[in-house]
Amino acid sequence: ALNGKVTVVGAGFYGSTTALRLAEYDVFETVVLTDIVEGKPEGLALDINQSRPIEGFETKVVGVGGGSYEGTEGSDVVVVTAGVPRKPGMSRMDLIETNAGIVRQVAENVARTSPDAVVIVVSNPLDEMTALAQLATGFPKQRVMGQAGMLDTARFSHFVAEELGVPVASVRTLTLGSHGDTMVPVPSRCTVDSKPLADVLAADRIEDLVTRTRNGGAEVVALLKTGSAYYAPSAAAARMAKAVIEDSGAVMPVCTWVDGEYDISGVYLGVEAEIGREGVRRVVQGDLTESELAGLREAAEAVRAKQADVADL
Ligand code: APR
Repeated sequence: ALNGKVTVVGAGFYGSTTALRLAEYDVFETVVLTDIVEGKPEGLALDINQSRPIEGFETKVVGVGGGSYEGTEGSDVVVVTAGVPRKPGMSRMDLIETNAGIVRQVAENVARTSPDAVVIVVSNPLDEMTALAQLATGFPKQRVMGQAGMLDTARFSHFVAEELGVPVASVRTLTLGSHGDTMVPVPSRCTVDSKPLADVLAADRIEDLVTRTRNGGAEVVALLKTGSAYYAPSAAAARMAKAVIEDSGAVMPVCTWVDGEYDISGVYLGVEAEIGREGVRRVVQGDLTESELAGLREAAEAVRAKQADVADL
């Protein structure tokens, strides 16, 4: 049976693709798509609903424009995609002031209308916008998380599969840390057909793929010229929302509040976590090499400094 309501705030490329994926899962009763623009979410919702007889799903999509939150009330999950995307040459951090204003306003509205929701933030810069959304909603920290690690990990897996000419299903990779310069790919946790990545790929090639993964978002932005990636990002965000409503306990790399794991405390950071109905059930601490651990701690300090600033934005 269909169950629950998910709201996607922001009906741009990321939000509309996320809404479509969520609807096609046929798990939620309702997907609400909202935007400050009038007509756009309503039109997209109508269009997606008209695909239901062809694709065979019953989830209904409701579009709400004009910045209204009517119809979103009591959402179980809220995915925040509102914000401006990068243009070629920009770093995610260049978006911080503009998107902080947007995310703060959205978070306050979400807290008012869906006080029990699990919030999944995707607006950039991701780690900072996630921390800000928690501050502005005042929600318990485990109920506010960010999407980044699953996307970065998927990019890494894709590159490894392409390089070796193997199915993506045979590749496992992992990235932790921030969704930016201090992303921490974890080669020691990467396997191809259960064999360590280091046994099937030369160290310099692994390093090249790690670099390409770290710049994975910028590579797409440079090609698109008018915006940033959304197919892989929306797949990651939608899977997180699904894990929440299904209370699945799936372990995925997400941006979450770290409090003691890896001897890191008091910061939103990309780590593996078990996801369920209450958001993050627990952080799952895996084995890392010394250098990977050092990279994660470095990432924590870099984002900690920036997250301290967002309170004033
Ligand atoms: N409330 C609701 N929607 C808003 C608000 C707001 N306060 N402010 C802006 N929006 C909407 C815009 O009207 C637009 O439709 O957010 C949407 C953003 O869509 P796009 O410009 O297509 O950007 P998109 O590619 O979807 O990226 C959104 O995700 O990956 C990140 O860096 C990216 O921060 C960006 C976000």
